[in-house]
Amino acid sequence: MARFPDVSTAGTRVPASIFARLREHLARFPGDVIPLQIGDTHLAPPSGLAEVEWAAMTPADLYAYGSPNGCAPLVEAIADKARTANGIEITTAGVQIAVGATHALSCTVQAVCDPGDELILLTPHWPLIRGMALGFHVVPIEVSLAELAGAITPRTSAIYLATPNNPDGEMLSRAQLEAIVEIAVRHDLWLVSDEVYEDYGYDAAHVSLASIPGALERTVTVFSFAKSYAQAGLRVGYALGPEGLISTIKKLVNHSVYNVPVAMQRAALGALRAGGPFLREARASYVAARDRSRARLIAPAASPPGGAYLWVDFRGLTGDDCMPILERCAAHGVLLAPGSAFGERCGGFARLCYTGVTPARLDEGIDRINTVLAHL
Ligand SMILES: Cc1ncc(COP(=O)(O)O)c(C=O)c1O
Repeated sequence: MARFPDVSTAGTRVPASIFARLREHLARFPGDVIPLQIGDTHLAPPSGLAEVEWAAMTPADLYAYGSPNGCAPLVEAIADKARTANGIEITTAGVQIAVGATHALSCTVQAVCDPGDELILLTPHWPLIRGMALGFHVVPIEVSLAELAGAITPRTSAIYLATPNNPDGEMLSRAQLEAIVEIAVRHDLWLVSDEVYEDYGYDAAHVSLASIPGALERTVTVFSFAKSYAQAGLRVGYALGPEGLISTIKKLVNHSVYNVPVAMQRAALGALRAGGPFLREARASYVAARDRSRARLIAPAASPPGGAYLWVDFRGLTGDDCMPILERCAAHGVLLAPGSAFGERCGGFARLCYTGVTPARLDEGIDRINTVLAHL
């Protein structure tokens, strides 16, 4: 149907950047801006493009199209890691490399939901998952864990969760995961488990959903080299799942990017092989940053058991919309992510990333926030 100059309904419904409103306030700040809004790390990766032995590879290894599935050595190393570190019993046919966890999740949503289906999101949730659903004409339904069983309808196709979670750093216990699997089995649902922060559980051990009895055949688990190994810009992530579903996801990867850039997969493989010491150091650095930021910030925030964020509760100060506080923070040169991006009921919260800047800049950013709060 002719629609020029209008764009598609999916294109219209997918939300734009959540930071647009803060930019004009930021423009009032002349100095060095402290970006506590973005989920990133200030640490250098354990291995990057510089460490790959490019000269040892033939041009066909590097410059020809790669396999849409992913480079064989990386796929094999991941299948190994899935079995030993995650307790997920898969073979290489259950692994799909993607352009970051973002791409893996986008293909997964497309693979398990039809237009009009409902995708349950445990709230608060990683923002892009909602936009992905909308982009595929899938209906996102936000519920708390306590509300989950009552939220299933005949149109529910899948449940998405993240553990440790972004934005609140919560981790689901084995008992909670078992309860979710039980609901999924009872209602014939797919499970989409976002475990990109698997290596950053501090107060509890991370449990992979697919390792729970009954979960393996219905769970896609997504991981990321961005989060585990500080390689966000290289854009390598992967999905693990039952072979039939992974072969569908593979077709979707094939039709969206063909293959993930081979050079980036080489660097990811290097990180996976050499990254053990990095994971230990990064975990120690992040937990120290969590404790440091939690102790310094004067606004209420729980101490999250894992992840990379404080979930700051401004409701006592501004009710259900803390944008006025975030605008003032932006005018003081420090950015936080508005809670409204993470759920319909989250407008009174903001997310503070404590891993993205050095400890000194973290202190400085929190002092700026405290100054704003002291002058409300
Ligand atoms: C919970 C969660 N899932 C997925 C992603 C996307 O990861 P990637 O950078 O590998 O696309 C992020 C990134 O912040 C995240 O926090």
